Amino acid sequence: MIEVNWMKSILYITANPKREELSNSLTVGRRLVNAYRSLNPDAAITEIDVYRQPIPLVNEHFLAARPKIAAGEVPDQLPPEEKEITERFYARTLQFMEADTYIFAFPLWNFGVPPLLKAYVDTIKVARKTFRYTPAGPEGLLKNKTAVLIQSSGDVYTTGPLREYEHGSRYLKSVLSFIGVERIETILMEGMDKSGGDATEKRNQAIERAVELAKTL
Ligand SMILES: Cc1cc2nc3c(=O)[nH]c(=O)nc-3n(C[C@H](O)[C@H](O)[C@H](O)COP(=O)(O)O)c2cc1C
Repeated sequence: MIEVNWMKSILYITANPKREELSNSLTVGRRLVNAYRSLNPDAAITEIDVYRQPIPLVNEHFLAARPKIAAGEVPDQLPPEEKEITERFYARTLQFMEADTYIFAFPLWNFGVPPLLKAYVDTIKVARKTFRYTPAGPEGLLKNKTAVLIQSSGDVYTTGPLREYEHGSRYLKSVLSFIGVERIETILMEGMDKSGGDATEKRNQAIERAVELAKTL
């Protein structure tokens, strides 16, 4: 049997304006990326920091261009403002489609993902590129992809009174499975801001899990 040495391409997507060493989610994310790199030294790992790299926002020009693109126009045929946003936007879509594995690291903010991560989601959940509508219903177009979601939250949502309130990792999971990502792993650090809590221990457990997970990606 011929063994194919196929290197996966990884996108490490972070959404946190904090410095890495001050952030639970970014610290765990970095440990996962480092562990993966030490096991796969030649892997192509691209980092997208949505707070430090401009993520194109859906705006008036993008919305004007969208039906034209759907009708078959290419960006070069569009007015300059529409061409500019459209090219930047779909470059993100394409970059996502071409990767094999996604690692997301982010905090829970007001029960959801940070707003610039939502802006990034707008660039990856795109009709006719990452999903399509068929007579049988919507169909995800991504195949053979894996995602890891690393989320830190001040409170606890997997049990207790706030169970219904977590729309961060759950939202991202919905989006990713909708567009076809089959394997989605989550590393949740919960109750990280509770006084008298064991945040350091939880973070260390999350790091252990991340390092183990790296072996399976
Ligand atoms: C703007 C903002 C909103 C937040 N909203 C929530 C929230 O809705 N629920 C929660 O449990 N924690 C909330 N937190 C707390 C963070 O989720 C918590 O501190 C988390 O551990 C931060 O992760 P990090 O260390 O990776 O930044 C919020 C923090 C900020 C700054």
